[in-house]
Amino acid sequence: MPCTVTIGGFYGDEGKGKIIAYLAINDNYNVAARGGVGPNAGHTFVQNNKEYRVRMLPSAVLNKDTRLLIGAGVLVEPNILLKEINTFDAIDRTFIDFQCGIIEQNHQEKDKKDNHLKEIVGTTGSGTGPANSERALRQLKLAKDVPEVALFLEDVSNSINYSIDNKENVLIEGTQGTFLSLYHGIYPYVTSKDVTASAICSDVGVGPKKIDEVLIVFKSYVTRVGGGPLTNEISLEESKERNWSEFGSVTGRQRRAAPFDFNLAKKSIQINSATQIALTKLDILFPHCKGIKDYSKLENDAKKFVENIESETGIPVTIIGTGAEINDTIDRRNNM
Ligand code: IMP
Ligand code: MG
Repeated sequence: MPCTVTIGGFYGDEGKGKIIAYLAINDNYNVAARGGVGPNAGHTFVQNNKEYRVRMLPSAVLNKDTRLLIGAGVLVEPNILLKEINTFDAIDRTFIDFQCGIIEQNHQEKDKKDNHLKEIVGTTGSGTGPANSERALRQLKLAKDVPEVALFLEDVSNSINYSIDNKENVLIEGTQGTFLSLYHGIYPYVTSKDVTASAICSDVGVGPKKIDEVLIVFKSYVTRVGGGPLTNEISLEESKERNWSEFGSVTGRQRRAAPFDFNLAKKSIQINSATQIALTKLDILFPHCKGIKDYSKLENDAKKFVENIESETGIPVTIIGTGAEINDTIDRRNNM
């Protein structure tokens, strides 16, 4: 059974939540482990017209047989975590590492008030930057120090490595996107940690030789929220006309938009050593695609778009999103 890591290829909001929710049900993971920064990410998925969102739990949560882990590199906000555990009835299958950092109210206040963070970087205000800076100073509280999360503590790296060594089916979930990385993004318009594949694996305590597949998620166009450059950005009016206009799931802010960017895609494939692409929202570019589940049923313009991405990047587009519902998905993995 393979160990797969999913990664955002652009600036976050590529639709990782939907792709992971699809994989979770279809591939039936024994274990899904969340890496990344913390509750600044919101992953959304829709099942039977009902929309769900997670900011702390892995997006594989809808599969009740999957053990849900949160790695030591991830910051935990206890109130958000407990609420999600309750919403998804996940008390018996959620485990967080003893060494997850804890976000407290003062971190959120600082994130929302600090002029540089709020006005220049345009953070989500969820407290992740201030908490990670305290962690670098070795002053941040860890999960093992707070009673609210005591029930869920586990040695996550040991648990996930045990699963991989015993040939279980394991998913490691990245959050944010490659160009929000503190190291590889466009500084200072970045998040407070590296979020590329190597970092996500490190967050959950898995070394590079144990990863079989790196599935990079690209949306059919590029969006970003907050400050920083966005090549070929279109106006908000034009993005509305093209139906590319989106609003952030954590902050409600309107996302800026640009066409699919091959230079960014190639660079993020390189940094992440991606082996496969999941392409989301193809139905927004090509409305006739909506709900299609069979690649051969796509019209030629949509196929050309997909095949051009494959020839430019040199890796296969194995999964394609054709609508918000989890099942609005083309899965080409078994017939390529
Ligand atoms: P922070 O991570 O809240 O400190 O925000 C830093 C930058 O990353 C801002 O531009 C945010 O809009 C962006 N950001 C952080 N998390 C996400 C995400 O999950 N999706 C999209 N943008 C994000
Ligand atoms: Mg998001």
